Amino acid sequence: MFLPQEIIRKKRDKFNLSKDEIHFFVNSFAAGKIPDYQMAALAMAIVLNGMNDEETAHLLTAMIQSGERMDWSPLRKRGIPCVDKHSTGGVGDKTSLIILPLLVADGLAVPMVAGRGLGHTGGTVDKLESIPGFMAQPNSEQFKNWILSRRGAFGAQTDSFVPADKKLYALRDVTATVESIPLITASIMSKKLAEDLDALVLDVKFGSGAFLQSSDAARQLAQSLVNAGKMAGCRVEAALTNMDEPLGRSAGHACEVVECLDILQGAGALDTKELSLQLAARAAVLGHQDTTLNAHERAYTRMKNHLSSGRAYEVFLEIAEQQGAHLSALDRSNTEWIDSGTIDIPVLPDSKEKMRVKSIDTRALGLLLIEMGAGRKRKEDAVDHKVGIVQLKKVGEIIEANEPLCFLRLRKNDTHADKLQSDAARAFSLIGADTRIEPKPLIADWIK
Ligand code: URA
Repeated sequence: MFLPQEIIRKKRDKFNLSKDEIHFFVNSFAAGKIPDYQMAALAMAIVLNGMNDEETAHLLTAMIQSGERMDWSPLRKRGIPCVDKHSTGGVGDKTSLIILPLLVADGLAVPMVAGRGLGHTGGTVDKLESIPGFMAQPNSEQFKNWILSRRGAFGAQTDSFVPADKKLYALRDVTATVESIPLITASIMSKKLAEDLDALVLDVKFGSGAFLQSSDAARQLAQSLVNAGKMAGCRVEAALTNMDEPLGRSAGHACEVVECLDILQGAGALDTKELSLQLAARAAVLGHQDTTLNAHERAYTRMKNHLSSGRAYEVFLEIAEQQGAHLSALDRSNTEWIDSGTIDIPVLPDSKEKMRVKSIDTRALGLLLIEMGAGRKRKEDAVDHKVGIVQLKKVGEIIEANEPLCFLRLRKNDTHADKLQSDAARAFSLIGADTRIEPKPLIADWIK
């Protein structure tokens, strides 16, 4: 029998915790036998003093064991590997809606448990809920049936899926204990490993719109996530990707879904399309365990074909229909769910000359989205699915005289439009049109 305060004291004094101590603490917290204040104290001691790889692995295992674990042995018996992609989140980060159908089109199963928006970054579950009828929060039985019948579904964390993480994450969010590599590793990987995956691709973002700003911190987190996955027998690789500008040309919910539908139908933003193809190709290589020469290039070509043939779009529609979406709403002539009751207001630069976008304070745009109603100030807040930022100019692009930097899609009765417009304009730094800007690579590195 352990005393919680003695375990907290040990971590406070920079000692390593044993497997039994960690399991006792996590199990007792999940069961409501250790109060929030003691868990918060331990979390803070971990933030300050860290955990070694062994302690992190014990924390991860204890979190996984706190709830239900998926079991895809029926799929494996049919020779179907299970894969997923997880992103640490960013502004306009919408690739899940494209990657899931690409991977299903490639013969893989994708049981994607996604998240809601967090701070200034958006979440897949909120985006999907903008589609009329879409059930993005199925119970575990529904989710299982969907995966077994169509090999792909979008879900959300339930009270029985890694409940220790659900409870701990909510506590960390309000006690300044999010920023810790061992805690983040255990949190993210417990949910992904409880999905019973054969392979996983991680998109670890860095830059002004990411929750980790520096590429060094992102690299450290990526390595920790990859190590934890490998220790659990899952094939994992992580991309370090740039979040110094929003991904694509829109950020919000319905407007991001529209951007994804455009890409799935052969148009859309190039950066979003390219990142989706690269991440999906890597997940496919790991899923199919293709170790032959040029496996990634071949997988990338297959992904491009799944897009150009329309197969990935068909898969998206099949999955959306399975999850209750009203397909008539996705018909492009029906824009009711996208922008009814809203107005697109141009954000103009101060300068009246032709200019070029030098940089974008992406975090500022993420915070602006919260002000507009697209994000949450508190966990229990509802989000407005229709508001957002659209037709956004990208870094390096020319702004002609009087051309908007982006449009804010606001509710027609929004009384803060002027302030929102000037805040949005301030997020863009411009330079003379003749100065060239070297584009930053979308993927800075792969961590294996
Ligand atoms: N996302 C998670 O799921 N957990 C963390 O700790 C941070 C980001």
